[in-house]
Amino acid sequence: MTESVPALETRALSKAFGGLVAVNGVSLSFREHEAHAIIGPNGAGKSTFVNLLTGHLTASGGQVLYRGGDITRLAAHQVARLGIGRSYQKTNIFPTLSCFENCRLAAQSRLATSMRFLRPASSYREVSAHAGAALELAGLAARSGRIAGTMSYGEQRQLEIAMVLATAPAVLVLDEPLAGMGKDESERMVALLKDLARRYTLILIEHDMDAVFAIAEVLSVMVNGTLLESGPLEQIRASKAVQDAYLGDGAEAY
Ligand SMILES: Nc1ncnc2c1ncn2[C@@H]1O[C@H](COP(=O)(O)OP(=O)(O)OP(=O)(O)O)[C@@H](O)[C@H]1O
Ligand SMILES: [Mg+2]
Repeated sequence: MTESVPALETRALSKAFGGLVAVNGVSLSFREHEAHAIIGPNGAGKSTFVNLLTGHLTASGGQVLYRGGDITRLAAHQVARLGIGRSYQKTNIFPTLSCFENCRLAAQSRLATSMRFLRPASSYREVSAHAGAALELAGLAARSGRIAGTMSYGEQRQLEIAMVLATAPAVLVLDEPLAGMGKDESERMVALLKDLARRYTLILIEHDMDAVFAIAEVLSVMVNGTLLESGPLEQIRASKAVQDAYLGDGAEAY
């Protein structure tokens, strides 16, 4: 049997900040259409790892492959244009612009090169269509004209996801989309993420284990910059090493 080429793959990926090795020889595969969560305690290197995937940081060693092609040295905007969209751990929107304008700017950033042969009116229509579809998919169609900074925190986080969707990505990389949310907001976001997991390859960093178990099919556990274990949900849930190193520690939090 031939294994299909993974959507994303890392080989012995490392990142050192001076003497601190934040990501230490991590080799991982993300299959097309997989919902894959990366978990681990604070400071484990999760955000650093995804920053290496998306070109926001340059690796100290190892490789990142997208559909089999080496993207290790590409800059963030080049990685984004290949179809790897990401959101950030901290909210990152234009608060004085409407939801629609936020999404339109996001769509424009990705589509700019592919549309340079279109007439301005056609490209405007194209970008607007992407922005509208993204708002719809993120459950914000009714908020299209609303100034982003005046919305609730939960809706602002939803908007960030809409902005990623507006770039028409193949892979979604989301860094703690539930951070700081209340119970109702979290439930809405989990429903949205479950829906997105059916449509995209999803790489999710999240501390909320109920959410992780509801959304992800595959879990990878990072501790101290290294990959402790990676596998199907049930395998990780049952893993003694994971329980000792991570799940056991914060058991009261779940
Ligand atoms: N730009 C940087 N310069 C120096 N050290 C950094 C930098 N970014 C991260 N680190 C360090 O690298 C380690 C891993 O950090 P990282 O943010 O990747 O962890 P994390 O798993 O995402 O944690 P959290 O769950 O708290 O978000 C930490 O010790 C952090 O202090
Ligand atoms: Mg982080």
